[in-house]
Amino acid sequence: MKTTNFNRRKFITDVSAGSIAAIASCSIPALGSISQNMTSGKLAILGGEPVVKNKIWPDWPYVDEKIVESIIKTTKSGIWCRIQSSTGTVPTFEKEYAKLMGTKFALGTGSGTQALNTCVEAMGIGPGDEIITSPYTDMGTISSIISSRALPVMADLDAESFQLDPREVERRITENTKAIMPIHIMGQPCNMEEIMKIAKKHNLKVIEDACQAHLGVYQGKVLGTIGDVGCFSFQTSKTISCGEGGAVIGNNEELMDKCYTVQNHGTSRKGRSETIGPKYRMNEFEGAILLAQMTGAKERFALRNKNAAYLTSKLKNFPGLIPQKLYEGTESGSFYLYTMSYHKEHWNNATRDQFLKALSGEGIGMSGYIANGLHKEPWVDHILNLKVYQKMYSPARLKQYLDDLACPKCDQVCADMVMLWASGPLLGTQNDMDDIINAIMKVYDNRDKLNQI
Ligand SMILES: Cc1ncc(COP(=O)(O)O)c(C=O)c1O
Repeated sequence: MKTTNFNRRKFITDVSAGSIAAIASCSIPALGSISQNMTSGKLAILGGEPVVKNKIWPDWPYVDEKIVESIIKTTKSGIWCRIQSSTGTVPTFEKEYAKLMGTKFALGTGSGTQALNTCVEAMGIGPGDEIITSPYTDMGTISSIISSRALPVMADLDAESFQLDPREVERRITENTKAIMPIHIMGQPCNMEEIMKIAKKHNLKVIEDACQAHLGVYQGKVLGTIGDVGCFSFQTSKTISCGEGGAVIGNNEELMDKCYTVQNHGTSRKGRSETIGPKYRMNEFEGAILLAQMTGAKERFALRNKNAAYLTSKLKNFPGLIPQKLYEGTESGSFYLYTMSYHKEHWNNATRDQFLKALSGEGIGMSGYIANGLHKEPWVDHILNLKVYQKMYSPARLKQYLDDLACPKCDQVCADMVMLWASGPLLGTQNDMDDIINAIMKVYDNRDKLNQI
């Protein structure tokens, strides 16, 4: 990439709205309050004063009295398992979550991984079948496919959005492909318009992995409601969370009933033991936290979007850190993570690690995200050596699978990604956001010193 001579003063005073058309409706306050002094001086890691001392971000996971009371109430009730009562916290949460998402049905599970695997099983996808997904995700995505002994086929990314590249998805379709499992990575929508076109053309199911993407909206639709089913995680770090938990949402009653049966160890709502299914039931304590945490969830979501838009507006035209590209039609995202790609050519060729260490010295903690795309992890060899895979997939298919494993754009994203864990921090004030920008700018001003770290 060409190195541009970045005008720092313009950056500091640039108050134009962010390039994210999606969040254009959020108001972007002017950045008059950022003091030039705060960004000047020696890097803290080299002995100077940090931009921020002892930064305390808004707490995450979110806890309030209502949540504590809800847990106490459940504890005292003795209703601890979802099948003890049709009006317990889990069935009630399912109704509330479906309402929040705008679907007819929602089903609680013990995790996002379980929600995804429930859908794979309920769709009858298993040995011999293939599901196309992204290598840039949590292992839970892959686990949900290999738990059913289907083959996860990983397609490469769009390096600017960090999302699945639909052209790469289409290229990897075979006669055994049954579904696409797109990920809304960082909680921002992937290119669902193109993915749905491909699914329709090739008659494939779509299981949206919206595990990071609570409440995001794309082309007027809530994430998780665009494909056949959508799956969510409520693991502690997520923007709606209960420790471990998950949900499937959908409008197809027959499919959602099958999902219920699968996650209930194969036993239907009518009590008949019908199919293969693990026991993935959400418990009532998880339901109790989630029900109470629904209050204010939309307000927190709006605040994260507003703060993310503010950060993005400040980084506009700054070539050193480029925020995640959002697709046209993105109206909002969960901003579970706020992510940028790091372009070292604008930082005097300092490594990402050197930049992150300097930033941390200024009191702002950021990090890389996924170190290796999942196409590079040992599970690949493991499954290819299992008898069931060797029986169900031809030697030619397994050879082609290995030959097609490379995902160079994913490798690049893994190497360049810089992220802020955003569930808590993006609930901060505008001053908190200014602290982030000030710290970045101070490091930028001192980029010629980064090689001393
Ligand atoms: C994209 C994605 N998919 C799936 C999962 C799995 O969810 P869980 O951890 O609740 O099983 C996660 C969790 O981090 C995730 O981020």
